[in-house]
Amino acid sequence: MKVILGSDHAGIAGRKEAVRLLRERGWEVQELGPEGDSEKADYPDIAHQIAQSVTSSESEMGVLVCGTGQGMAMTANRYRGARAAVITDPFTAEMSRAHNDANIACFGERVVGAETIRQLLAKFLATPFEAGRHMARVDKIDQVIGEA
Ligand code: RB5
Repeated sequence: MKVILGSDHAGIAGRKEAVRLLRERGWEVQELGPEGDSEKADYPDIAHQIAQSVTSSESEMGVLVCGTGQGMAMTANRYRGARAAVITDPFTAEMSRAHNDANIACFGERVVGAETIRQLLAKFLATPFEAGRHMARVDKIDQVIGEA
């Protein structure tokens, strides 16, 4: 499975921690974003690329890290088929996959810290979508956008 990860300057440590976790588990990883604190990136520029990759099926999952996770999710959710969830706790990590079939995990490094991002991402990736009664609800998410 291929996962694409991106962060702005506020999420570099969290992104690196997530990349380590995925590589340890043998996942194919693509990484976007600044390498050091002195390099700045605007979160929408990164989120657009990750959402495009996931919604075009070039990547199966996306991970986005910024200061709060919020700006990344707001941007990614502009894309039809993107289901970006801001994850702050283990229950949300699990339910956003099991009930919402989230395909982009967004984290706030200034909220939870890099080590917790690693733990929450592990929970997120280990949880399958339950489908069943949740399938029709997930299908309704894109209805608000209308047909392209
Ligand atoms: C960058 O300072 C910060 O605004 C950004 O990382 C993020 O928190 C926005 O949602």
